[in-house]
Amino acid sequence: MTDVKARRDAVFGAGSTLFYDEPVHIVRGEGVYLYAADGTRYLDMYNNVPSVGHCHPHVVEAVSKQIGTLNVHNRYLHEAILEYGERLLATHHDGLASVVFSCTGTEANEVALMMARAATGGQGIICTDAAYHGNSTEVRRLNHCRSSTGDVRSVPFPDGFRFDLDHPGQDPLTCYLDQVQAVIDGFRNDGVDFAGLLFCPLFANEGLPAIPDGFLPAVAELVRRSGGLFICDEVQAGLGRTGNWWGYEVQGFQPDIVSMGKPLGAGMPLAATAGRRDLVEHFRKTFRYFNTFAATPGQAAAGNAVLDVIEAENVLNQVTTVGQQLRDGLRPFMGRCEPMADVRGEGLFVSIEWVTDRRTRTPDAEGAIQVVEQLKARGFLTSNAGAYRNIIKLRPPLVFSEADAAQFLDAFEDVLDGLD
Ligand SMILES: Cc1ncc(COP(=O)(O)O)c(C=O)c1O
Repeated sequence: MTDVKARRDAVFGAGSTLFYDEPVHIVRGEGVYLYAADGTRYLDMYNNVPSVGHCHPHVVEAVSKQIGTLNVHNRYLHEAILEYGERLLATHHDGLASVVFSCTGTEANEVALMMARAATGGQGIICTDAAYHGNSTEVRRLNHCRSSTGDVRSVPFPDGFRFDLDHPGQDPLTCYLDQVQAVIDGFRNDGVDFAGLLFCPLFANEGLPAIPDGFLPAVAELVRRSGGLFICDEVQAGLGRTGNWWGYEVQGFQPDIVSMGKPLGAGMPLAATAGRRDLVEHFRKTFRYFNTFAATPGQAAAGNAVLDVIEAENVLNQVTTVGQQLRDGLRPFMGRCEPMADVRGEGLFVSIEWVTDRRTRTPDAEGAIQVVEQLKARGFLTSNAGAYRNIIKLRPPLVFSEADAAQFLDAFEDVLDGLD
């Protein structure tokens, strides 16, 4: 282990992040399980990229067959990627009619920003103050953004759990909407034409907060009334994670542009940006966008195989049922565990809020990390996340079953029993 870690530091350069005090050295994955070099089996409660489970045989077979036949860039006609594009778009609302493929969530967001700016002629973009949307020079500007000047500006993410601490007696919906409107007004006052807003519909990296009812539909209205476009980052929230195809369905609104990534290809790099046909065609004419590894037959095989599994194995219903089972099983523990102050989420995306004191709701990142380490010691891989790093985040592959959830709940109870 130490040897592998030292070798990794030398090859990657020290500073490349690893999970857990004692990193896990994995050699194999199957379904919801990961197997370590020392033979330990872990139940994977965290990885959303192997969306239909690690090494799903249908995906492995489809991808192997395709790359053994043809895999080449997309300046040729090839039907599999068209079939995939049609199937992917069919899962969305009717307004999303065309798609640009890429390889990472970062690229999908980059394309979305270019598309919105080209369509509106504006530059001004709104994001939240605790988001992560990717790692390119432009997209990075939206990460943990605290700017109130320039062409990228942030609003506080909606945090229903803590709202009343700083805003006693106020209405969260009105307050958060006013903040969005204030940024739009600020752009106008400063002569920055407005292009749109980019939010994750669940605010996943912010910590899956409690979102005031009706917030995102009302934001979409404000944005459009001011000539902007609503870009929805579905890189984490999408493709069945919530038990719906897309996170925006949970929130009850229809975005103008959607970026997608992580779970689409079950580990094959596959990402996409969908929009109205006229938006996409304007983007194509403006930028002549080309991405060598995007829209290939290999990507198409992975994407189609993932959709096959989701449909054939009734995955969306299972996600809804098992997600509910997890939350229902976790909530009673709050009665006996003071730091466990809230359990939230949608489908198989669960956040457990860990605090030092329920009255002040002070985030306890150290406590959350302790629970994560204790779960790992019992063979369950989770992580801590969110704006304050105090959220224990559960986001297993979508094929996580009722029996898996039951095992996890037992282990979680055991960890609580052992806490100081
Ligand atoms: C919400 C969200 N958007 C975009 C990205 C960037 O995706 P990628 O790492 O594939 O570039 C991430 C990655 O964690 C993400 O969580």
